Amino acid sequence: MKINRVCMIGGTGFVGHALARQLSGAGYACRIVSRHPHRHRDLKLLPGVELTEADVFNPQALRRQIEDCDAVVNLVGILNEAGETQSFRRVHVALVDSIVDAMRDTGVPRLLHMSAVNAHADKGSSEYLRTKGEGEDHAHHRGGGAVQTTSFRPSVIFGPGDSFFNRFATLLRSLPGPFPLACPETRFAPIYAGDVALAFQKGLEDPTTIGQRYDLCGPEAYTLRELVVYTARTLGMDKTVIGLSDRSSRLQARILGHLPGRPFTYDNYLSMQTDSLCRTNGLQALGITPTPIESIVPLYLSPEGDQRRRYRRLRSLAARADAGSAASSPARR
Ligand SMILES: NC(=O)c1ccc[n+]([C@@H]2O[C@H](COP(=O)([O-])OP(=O)(O)OC[C@H]3O[C@@H](n4cnc5c(N)ncnc54)[C@H](OP(=O)(O)O)[C@@H]3O)[C@@H](O)[C@H]2O)c1
Repeated sequence: MKINRVCMIGGTGFVGHALARQLSGAGYACRIVSRHPHRHRDLKLLPGVELTEADVFNPQALRRQIEDCDAVVNLVGILNEAGETQSFRRVHVALVDSIVDAMRDTGVPRLLHMSAVNAHADKGSSEYLRTKGEGEDHAHHRGGGAVQTTSFRPSVIFGPGDSFFNRFATLLRSLPGPFPLACPETRFAPIYAGDVALAFQKGLEDPTTIGQRYDLCGPEAYTLRELVVYTARTLGMDKTVIGLSDRSSRLQARILGHLPGRPFTYDNYLSMQTDSLCRTNGLQALGITPTPIESIVPLYLSPEGDQRRRYRRLRSLAARADAGSAASSPARR
């Protein structure tokens, strides 16, 4: 079946932006459903992208959003719980059930579901990973034959606007002195958001991906300590990184988990008890060459990258101001 219109749920976040750019560029019509569309008006500038407001936990509202689509992409996920409405179980499992039920009821056949590497309903080391695993299983099995699912299980994802390198960059800049790092020896294989977006597009276009669960990793594995040292170097900072012992890492999680914004929680600590690596990298099966961090991260983290971004922003502001004054100039009236 040819897929023309895709409904994205959770499409306003970091990965959603990368995927919307990819699918828009490839000529798909995308409907992005959000609780707060006014916060993401930039997405409406992409050709073929429509931004709508709906509570996806309301079954009728969800059905209305997806019924004229050929495929649904589910990117909704949270790293930390926040009360009953933002619990892992509600967001990672109950919502998947509602999406699959709505697809079955409306006859939308194709689901691309975002999970995470190490997600497993029983063996996940944290509640985040267990609920992600359970949701992934439901995405594959709940619809019976009526919903054809592919899931993607990435390691940490990087790119402009990510919450990994950018988060460490902010912390490195704001903390004076040596940098205390929890779980320093946990290993990650960061994957570029553009490669994740390409994997989703392949999922829409290649029927052999139906039923598959793809672990997605970048080309290299690094310890967290190596990634934080790399971040500091890219920022042009000479920073000493002090790896915390397991006991101190746990203590740090207990303390930071109570701060506003919960920068590092005990559940995050538990997730990091497992290396975030792929046994088999699904990018290879999908024919995608993974992009190394060195070719992207300096573009948005380094002082030169920052300067280039500021310059581009100024240029586009100047262009908009020019267009505005031309439109209101007497010659144009
Ligand atoms: N980023 C990574 O390194 C990484 C790694 C592995 C897996 N993943 C998975 O990839 C997916 C996307 O990650 P991301 O980094 O793009 O996350 P993000 O930037 O935080 O975006 C999360 C999205 O989920 C939506 N959302 C959250 N809670 C919701 C709720 N209660 N109801 C409706 N929508 C809700 C948000 O929509 P609103 O506009 O309505 O707020 C937003 O569009 C997640 O499933 C995540 O678990 C991410």
